[in-house]
Amino acid sequence: RTFRIAAIPADGVGKEVVAAGRAVLDALAEDSAGAFAFEWEEFPWGCEYYERTGKMMDEDGLDQLKDFDAIYFGAVGWPTVPDHISLWGLRLKICQSFDQWANIRPVHFLPGVTSPLRKADDTELDWVVVRENSEGEYAGLGGRNLSGRGQGGEVAVQTALFTEVGCERIMRFAFDLARTRTRRKVSSVTKSNAQQYGMVLWDDVFKRVSADYPDVETESVLVDAMSAKFVLRPEDLSVVVASNLNADILSDLGSALAGSLGLAASANLNPERRFPSMFEPVHGSAPDIAGQGLANPIGAVGSAALMLDHLGLPAQAARLHRAIEATTAAGILTRDLGGTATTDDVTKALIDGLNA
Ligand code: NAI
Ligand code: MG
Repeated sequence: RTFRIAAIPADGVGKEVVAAGRAVLDALAEDSAGAFAFEWEEFPWGCEYYERTGKMMDEDGLDQLKDFDAIYFGAVGWPTVPDHISLWGLRLKICQSFDQWANIRPVHFLPGVTSPLRKADDTELDWVVVRENSEGEYAGLGGRNLSGRGQGGEVAVQTALFTEVGCERIMRFAFDLARTRTRRKVSSVTKSNAQQYGMVLWDDVFKRVSADYPDVETESVLVDAMSAKFVLRPEDLSVVVASNLNADILSDLGSALAGSLGLAASANLNPERRFPSMFEPVHGSAPDIAGQGLANPIGAVGSAALMLDHLGLPAQAARLHRAIEATTAAGILTRDLGGTATTDDVTKALIDGLNA
C-alpha cells in the first residue's frame, strides 16, 4: 500500500535530517518489491515562512495535514524569530490540535558510540521516556501583567494543568508499553514534594493505575533524584513516565548519555488514531551547525523507524535499526560522535546498511 506522508523539515538542520530520512525511507520502499510505497508532500512552514508571511504555518494548515497517514517533522526555531512564537506556531500547535498526547523517546546504546556512561561493560542503557504531551507545564495557561510592563513591577503567571483523564491515559500507555519490554517496570517522575496540587494528583493516579498492572514493577521518583539516577543507575530503568516539562528535560539528558542529542528519536502519538501522529528527532534546529553537512541524521532516521512501527511495518522498522547499528559499528560517525563523516556519508551508509 501507499502511505501518504507530510514532511515538514522547517528550520536549520531540520531540513538536512528530513532529507536524509526521506532518502532512507525511499530506499527501503524501493527495495520492497512494491509491498509498500511512500507518497510525500513537503510543506514549507517554519521561520523563513514566518518572515515572509507573518505566520508559522498556513491558516488552514491543520486541515491540509489531517488526512495524511503520518507527519515527518524536522525541527523548528531560528534566531530571527522568538522561540516561543516559532514553537507554539508550528510544533506545539500540531501536537495539541491533533491530540498527540503521548510522546515516546527511546534511548539505548549503539555499537561504536562512546557514551559518558559506558564506564563498565555491564552498564546497560535501554529505556523509553514516555512524556505527557498535551497538558502539564506546557498547557499554555497564564499571562503577563500588561499594565505593569516596563515599570519594574511586572508579574507573570504560568500555570501547569493536570487532569485525572490526562494523567490516567499517559500512565496506562506507559504500563502497556512496559508489558512489551523485557524489564517490566514503570518509574513515575514528579516534584510532588514541592508542587502540591497537580503533581500530587499525578501520584494518586499513578498509584491507582498501577494496581491494574500487578505484573509491572513500579517506583515514584522526584525529578531531581531521577536526573541523578539517569547518570548513576541507568540499568535500573525501563519505562519512565513524566509530565511535559520534566520528560522534556530528562529525555535530552538521556540522549546525551547515549552519546549525542543527534541520536535521539521521538514519536508524538495520537493513540486513538483520530488524527495523524508526528515523528521527529528530539533535537532542535541546531543553528550552530546548520547548513554545513555536520548534522547527525540518526535521530531523524530512528524517528522514521518509529513511524514505520506506527504504520504497521515493524519488520521494516527493525531493518532501519539494524542499518543504524551497522553504520555506527563501522565507525561512520558525524562530528557530534567524534567522527568526521558528513550527513550524506552517514545517509549513504544507512542505505547500504538496509541489507545488513
Ligand atoms: P538544539 O537541539 O538545536 O542544539 C543543541 C546542541 O546539540 C547544539 O550544540 C547542536 O549543534 C547539537 N545538535 C542538535 N542536533 C544535532 C544533530 N542532529 N547532529 C549533531 N549535533 C546536533 O537545541 P538549542 O540550541 O537549544 O535550540 C536551537 C533551536 O531549536 C531553538 O530555536 C529551539 O527553540 C529549537 N528547538 C526545537 C525543537 C523542536 O522542533 N522539536 C526542540 C528543541 C529546540
Ligand atoms: Mg526538548
